[in-house]
Amino acid sequence: MGLLKGKRGVIMGVANERSIATAVARLMHREGAELAFSYLPDVGERSRNEQRVRDVTKDLSPLLVASCDVGQDEDIQKFFAQVQEAMGPIDFVIHSIAYAPTEDLKCPTHQASRNGFASAMDISVYSFLAVARYAAPLMTREGGGSICAMTYFGGEKVMPGYNLMGVAKAALDTSVRYTASELGAQKIRVNAISAGPVKTLAASAVGDFKKMLGLYENSSPLKSNITAEDVGAAAAFLASDYGRMTTGEILHVDGGYHIMGVTQYADA
Ligand SMILES: NC(=O)c1ccc[n+]([C@@H]2O[C@H](COP(=O)([O-])OP(=O)(O)OC[C@H]3O[C@@H](n4cnc5c(N)ncnc54)[C@H](O)[C@@H]3O)[C@@H](O)[C@H]2O)c1
Repeated sequence: MGLLKGKRGVIMGVANERSIATAVARLMHREGAELAFSYLPDVGERSRNEQRVRDVTKDLSPLLVASCDVGQDEDIQKFFAQVQEAMGPIDFVIHSIAYAPTEDLKCPTHQASRNGFASAMDISVYSFLAVARYAAPLMTREGGGSICAMTYFGGEKVMPGYNLMGVAKAALDTSVRYTASELGAQKIRVNAISAGPVKTLAASAVGDFKKMLGLYENSSPLKSNITAEDVGAAAAFLASDYGRMTTGEILHVDGGYHIMGVTQYADA
């Protein structure tokens, strides 16, 4: 243990115990990383998001827990200024954030509203570019840095029920490749992990999610669903020195599901 000893990084996207970002944070902390966290600011009187994120991360000795609505450029800028103050140079950022209005996710893709499309692309894709913009200047150490997004196979091939989020993930995957080509000269690596289905808050908004779990269990080469911890292991590799020549990659952590052309013949 100690793959990430001496490294400092930012984890964006913890909502609760089940979040993929939570498992990633636990594993990275176990591997020696020092961490900062952002949370989606609460609207109105409630302070549930902030409290939940503070509760979930309290065992991880965070160097910073601060609010950041990635729909607001000023928030992202302010957040990374706080990161710089609390941590100095950083080595990695995990972007584990997505959103689409439920009604625009549940309907057929071609029925999604203009506003729903814009907000899905804004929070799930543009925010990644903006995070890279503000995080890159903090990645000044000799080893450069690592930025990692969370994506899904529904951006590469049609997965019934994934709908508008598939369109957003396709744009996210392409954003990863362009950003990787742009930041490579600064030794900043940019990748995404394409995770198989994991039961989380965001996943509950996706139609047919239970069927997806069954599909992966029965039809992936490894005949098993993944856990959020499996994603953490891949994220730790990418942030570590072992990932030093890997960039622009969509790393599938899905039991191999994505290699299958047909999962089952009708008479099987
Ligand atoms: N769960 C899965 O099956 C699965 C599979 C593949 C990829 N992913 C991706 O993993 C990532 C994390 O999702 P999750 O499944 O852990 O669900 P989650 O609901 O726990 O995480 C989503 C996060 O996005 C944050 N968020 C939404 N709008 C925001 C905003 N405006 N500003 C800041 N934060 C905002 C939420 O607060 C939450 O922390 C997403 O990109 C998701 O698409 C999930």
